[in-house]
Amino acid sequence: MKFFVDTADTAEIRDLAVTGLLDGVTTNPSLIHKSGRKFLEVVEEICGLVEGPVSAEVVALDHETMMKEAAVLRKIAPNVCIKVPLTIDGLKTCKALTDDGVLVNVTLCFSANQALLAAKAGASFISPFVGRHDDNGFDGMALIQDIRLIYDNYGFDTEILVASVRHPIHVLESARIGADVMTAPPAVIKALFNHVLTDKGIAGFLADWEKTGQTIL
Ligand code: E4P
Repeated sequence: MKFFVDTADTAEIRDLAVTGLLDGVTTNPSLIHKSGRKFLEVVEEICGLVEGPVSAEVVALDHETMMKEAAVLRKIAPNVCIKVPLTIDGLKTCKALTDDGVLVNVTLCFSANQALLAAKAGASFISPFVGRHDDNGFDGMALIQDIRLIYDNYGFDTEILVASVRHPIHVLESARIGADVMTAPPAVIKALFNHVLTDKGIAGFLADWEKTGQTIL
């Protein structure tokens, strides 16, 4: 499963990129607002930090303006992935862009039928929002299971990009189901490293090492 980080904080991205774990980055208008930086500048900087796809979202609601915004965004770098909302205009834009060889991430997916439409429109990635689904009393991971089943039934190439990930269990379940990608905030990715028994084990080994009176260097 590929790991994307869901942030526009370039210091966090740099930090994670050196671990070799990062396969891409997702941003959205709220994350750009949180960064306090200019959208085009921050996307350009992120594209220089990772080799994989960097999702940058259009903000227009109509197809024509989405295409104009996408034209600006795709000039930033070859690894820009245009993010469009799951609407009729968003999917028209998805079809036009993917036909032209551009990566497209269809965002704000909340049903398996929506995911089916996105795949038929040639989406490179579909982003079902599991955390927001759970928040509203639906089962986010059941949605991922349904999409996996439908995509496998028909051999769609669209990658399932689990989004709105809130905790390590979402990551574990995504991997169990066979999602292609998950995108999570830096804190969730960092939490994956942690285990109380790892910390306890290190403390125990170091305490015994001290007693040997030896050094390695
Ligand atoms: C995905 O691309 C979105 O940016 C993201 O995962 C939204 O997550 P949130 O529900 O935590 O805002």
